[in-house]
Amino acid sequence: MTRFWSLFVAIIVIANIAGAAWILFANARDSSPDKTTGHVWDEDLTEYNKPLPLWWVGLFVASIVFGVGYLIVYPGLGAWQGTFAWTSASEHDRDVAAANAKAEALLSAFRDRSIADLAEDPKALAVGHNVFANNCAACHGSAARGGPGFPNLTDADWLYGGDPDTVVATITNGRAGVMPPWGPVLGDAGVENVANYVLSLAGQPHDAAKAEAGKASFQTTCIACHSAEGKGNPLVRAPNLTDDVWLYGGDLASIEATIRNGRNGQMPAWEKTLGADRIRLVAAWVLAQSKKDAVAQDGAASP
Ligand code: HEC
Ligand code: HEC
Repeated sequence: MTRFWSLFVAIIVIANIAGAAWILFANARDSSPDKTTGHVWDEDLTEYNKPLPLWWVGLFVASIVFGVGYLIVYPGLGAWQGTFAWTSASEHDRDVAAANAKAEALLSAFRDRSIADLAEDPKALAVGHNVFANNCAACHGSAARGGPGFPNLTDADWLYGGDPDTVVATITNGRAGVMPPWGPVLGDAGVENVANYVLSLAGQPHDAAKAEAGKASFQTTCIACHSAEGKGNPLVRAPNLTDDVWLYGGDLASIEATIRNGRNGQMPAWEKTLGADRIRLVAAWVLAQSKKDAVAQDGAASP
């Protein structure tokens, strides 16, 4: 709370306490000699002015004393913090510091170990799994098997590379896949032809005549990124189109949509949210899910 608002509240509180005390004492005196309020109804109906019962006055005084006491020990008057110097902000800071100290004790134990080593340690994997469930499962699925647009992280097929350093870099900085839209360049028929050619590259059922017609546009338009054989290119991170592993779906309609409209897969950066320790632990968990040989294999060259 800012100083203005604590003063604002304190002044209202003091005014209320003073007002309550005034009401109490102003009405305590019994000034009329005949013990009535002086009000008369229906000509002869008068109203007694009885003193308040003692227990009630006691309660009233006690609550005034409590109000004053509360004002003194708790936030109090602006700069005067109250004798307990309590604020909700400082309580929050203490809670955060306590949680950080606890996390630090847990995380520091893993700090100096290699990711390959962490991927073998059930304790490290339990923490990594937790980080994954809280931050990654929404996109990659709770078992990390992905879905349309979100890569499966458990296979040995990597868009960006499956060695520990690359996986850590992917998580730390994020990734942005850029597949440009080709609909305007190729037209509907051109898109359909080249999509059939892509299916032929993947060894999937396709229309041979259309694939043949699409081959020429592939060679001019697509090879810069996906390579002449369609096996992808580690430099531009364009995926292998021949392995029948699809990020956006491998049926003709999905492939046509990919080519016509382009795709922009966005993997968020986690450096700020998670910090280096948690990133290494979640990377270890991801690598442990991936096929055992994926740890050793650098998939960057064959996405
Ligand atoms: C908002 C959705 C989203 C969240 C949350 C997310 N990711 Fe991703 N991730 C993606 C997308 C999309 C890609 C693919 C990017 C592309 O198409 O180029 C990706 C790619 C990856 C890759 C690269 C896979 C490869 O084949 O090279 C890894 C590793 C990865 N994510 C791990 C994680 C981890 C670990 C977390 C949690 C800390 C996480 N992701 C959270 C969307 C997400
Ligand atoms: C500028 C480089 C570039 C060019 C040129 C390019 N692509 Fe791509 N393509 C990419 C990238 C990068 C991705 C991955 C996008 C992502 O991760 O979101 C991709 C993804 C794809 C996919 C989806 C693969 C999957 O697993 O779902 C298909 C299909 C595809 N491209 C076909 C083509 C065809 C056909 C052409 C030519 C008409 C072409 N691309 C031209 C860079 C390119």
